[in-house]
Amino acid sequence: MSRVAYVNGSYVPHGEAAVHIEDRGYQFADGVYEVCEVRGGRLVDETRHMDRLERSLGELRIAMPMARRPLGMVLRETVRRNRVRDGLVYLQVTRGVARRDHAFPKPGTPPALVVTAKNIDPSKGEASATKGVKVISLPDNRWERVDIKSVGLLPNCLAKQAAREQGAYEAWLVDEDGFVTEGSSTNAWIITKDGALVTRYADTGILKGITRTTIFDLCKREGLRIEERKFTIEEAQNAREAFLSSATTIVMPIVEIDGRPVGNGAPGSIATDLRAKFHEVAEIV
Ligand code: PDD
Repeated sequence: MSRVAYVNGSYVPHGEAAVHIEDRGYQFADGVYEVCEVRGGRLVDETRHMDRLERSLGELRIAMPMARRPLGMVLRETVRRNRVRDGLVYLQVTRGVARRDHAFPKPGTPPALVVTAKNIDPSKGEASATKGVKVISLPDNRWERVDIKSVGLLPNCLAKQAAREQGAYEAWLVDEDGFVTEGSSTNAWIITKDGALVTRYADTGILKGITRTTIFDLCKREGLRIEERKFTIEEAQNAREAFLSSATTIVMPIVEIDGRPVGNGAPGSIATDLRAKFHEVAEIV
């Protein structure tokens, strides 16, 4: 089955899908994106992803490429045309195409919109979650506005590549005071000995993950306590459990940080339970 992409108003064969060489996303990383999980052909937490998209665009003064309802229809149509059951839908909005100049193009330049969707074999994520994953730590050398879901991801790519080269699944980024911010493409969590879930507060120094927010809802339902605060790598290594979260990984237990086992070195029971129950509270439409 051949893949199809949505590019600025048309559905085109994936292999032929292209944007202009002077798209500001291509030249300046002047754009934002969202990744939404697809489950059983339906979108997970679409409302929250759309809310965050509008916020990211607003912070950068880029216009919504179309209203929310038609955008939702484009996402669904891209999922349908690619016959995605379980996987993800990716959308990217840039400030559009203009003659190269760092300052914004003239008002009225239409933003550019690209949407793709792909199947992902759910058994792969399950296998990783059953074994647990390893993370390494690296300095967080990103800009100060990582709350905006910008396509400028070079530091994140370098961190992820370093993790891969060391046989790890993710890199946890550490601020200059020695506290973990988040992973290169995931939020970071630990669980204390007395069962509290700890994750950094969502100021401008992390991306406020949609999965993170829905885990908050799940914790409320389950009567689990959340502490939004900073933690160090050392505290994480000595925690009862650790895990990471994102739309593509959901809750992924961590069993090793910088070569040291977390807990008993096996996926923790709370993280495993949260993973199993996540979709009971997520919006799925
Ligand atoms: N990444 N932090 C960063 C830096 C991220 O890039 C992501 C998501 C998250 C988790 O956010 P959410 O729960 O909304 O997926 C946290 C996506 C999946 C990506 O870049 O592919």
